[in-house]
Amino acid sequence: MSILPILKERFRAALAGLAADPAELLDLVRRSQEPKFGDYQANMAMSLGKQLRRPPREVAAEIVARLNVADLCQPPEIAGPGFINLRVKDSWLIERLSASVGDPRLGVATLPSSQRRRYVVDFSAPNVAKPMHVGHIRSTVIGDALCRVLRFLGHEAISDNHIGDWGTQFGMILYGWRHFRDEEAYRRNPVEELARLYRLVRRIMDFQNAKEPPAAVDAEWSRLSAEHPHLHTAVLAETAKLHAGDPECRRLWSEFLPFCNDEIERMYRRLGVTFDYTLGESFYEDRLAPLVDELIRRGLARESDGAICIFLEGQKTPMLVRKKDGAFLYGTTDLATIRYRMETWNPDAILYVVDHRQSLHFQQLFAAAALLDYDRVELRHVSFGTVLGDDGRPFKTRSGDTVGLEGLLDEAVRRAMEIVSANDDAKPDGPELSTDQRRQIAETVGIAALKYADLSQNRTSDYVFSYDKMLAMNGNTATYLQYAYARVRSIFSRGGVDVEALRRGGAAIRLDAPAERALAIELIRFAEALEMTVADYRPNQLTAYLFDLANRYSTFFEQCHVLRAETEELRQSRLLLCDLTARTIRQGLELLGIQVVEKM
Ligand code: ARG
Repeated sequence: MSILPILKERFRAALAGLAADPAELLDLVRRSQEPKFGDYQANMAMSLGKQLRRPPREVAAEIVARLNVADLCQPPEIAGPGFINLRVKDSWLIERLSASVGDPRLGVATLPSSQRRRYVVDFSAPNVAKPMHVGHIRSTVIGDALCRVLRFLGHEAISDNHIGDWGTQFGMILYGWRHFRDEEAYRRNPVEELARLYRLVRRIMDFQNAKEPPAAVDAEWSRLSAEHPHLHTAVLAETAKLHAGDPECRRLWSEFLPFCNDEIERMYRRLGVTFDYTLGESFYEDRLAPLVDELIRRGLARESDGAICIFLEGQKTPMLVRKKDGAFLYGTTDLATIRYRMETWNPDAILYVVDHRQSLHFQQLFAAAALLDYDRVELRHVSFGTVLGDDGRPFKTRSGDTVGLEGLLDEAVRRAMEIVSANDDAKPDGPELSTDQRRQIAETVGIAALKYADLSQNRTSDYVFSYDKMLAMNGNTATYLQYAYARVRSIFSRGGVDVEALRRGGAAIRLDAPAERALAIELIRFAEALEMTVADYRPNQLTAYLFDLANRYSTFFEQCHVLRAETEELRQSRLLLCDLTARTIRQGLELLGIQVVEKM
């Protein structure tokens, strides 16, 4: 266990009998922002003093008198109006660090079985046959990181890619196929041809929907538009035929789908993301009608204007589950999906990593699920903000399309290649990497930069996409952390250190210099950072931790000689700190789905 939960436990005991609601006060046990206030601080004496109508300093003194932390902290100090400052004992830190040296889990305990939960994590979920966009990266990267961290802590995380393989986009492609297909192009590259058909139909529809005629009326589009009037209705009709089981539509759909799936699969391989299940919307197709019938039978849904709706308490608009024309909706499928997941896995929680624009949908969905008696499972919309361009608007390419994922990855890798090459060329003893090595490193560094840029943002805020920022060698970036890792590793190769032997050697860790101690405290906080990451499903807690760790390491490296340490004992101790730092960075990045490189 990390320090914070231990401290909270001790405070809980100290507050028993003193505070009516200790749980709330325990949130006020926190890490200190400044070393002069110790390593951790407890700031509950002020609010407790108010409750008890007693001077806060007096309350603080009473808490301290009841507090039993002698095994891990120096005697607590009371400061200012009643802050309790705690400084962890060096001996405790040393003991923990020494145990981590030989521990593959770096001192992070696996949860006891009573605290393990089963999660279903619903993430990525692109609408296939439609080009994936930058928002899907965000979901993919955050969802994957959450699964990894949950599993590392000992939870079970079932990843399920709820791909959109049954929606209107297929109606568009079916229409496009009937009217615009180029058989030759389809044989050469099916996905490209399907994407072309999708874009073509999309553009005609957009042209027809435009409120004002475009400034310069494009002859080509007005001709197409005139030749295909009421395109929107026609597309919906194709979709309805598919859903109604029209054999030709079904045949085409099952022919197209594998091509679309291959395409996204390729993207996942490049991103290093896998799923336990890919149960798309089509999987639930034959469960929709019976579900709606049941809702009606149980009086949970009723007719309104020919449509079937669930009227939810506290919600302004009802949730539509069947349209007047008999079509089912996105939400109907999601409701059937909850039922399936509960019946199949009976999870403790289902997380939906989906952008914030769908928050109303999830509010309604969760309320409807509660009506179906799924009220003990934690249903959680892990929502995230929009990726913006320089202009502060949703990120688009110059042509106005949302940016395709593949192009995004390629560009990040291309720029990473420039950085890796410049870096290598500038090495004092001349370049050490072959072109092939550079290329491999650039792929790792480029993809890492992209992922980390998503993960390091507070997920609920929008953020501005910038290649320069995400690949910066300084700052809170993957590149900086990968570089920090590679630098630590280079100490071992330069010093001819046998790392395995070092770990087995059992040398004593010493924390005499302030920078050594500061690094040690940070190393010990790894478990705490992971717990904070899953507490509110925020990977930026982990990136912030790794960034702090790399900074502490950097100060340590400036202030303390490692290979040229004053004594052999000190050299061994510092090498152990280096090794723990490298391993923590590598493990931390791995939990974010990011790889390290040995050389950069
Ligand atoms: N396919 C949807 C989209 O691209 C996201 C699906 C999210 N998951 C869910 N169970 N609704 O917008």
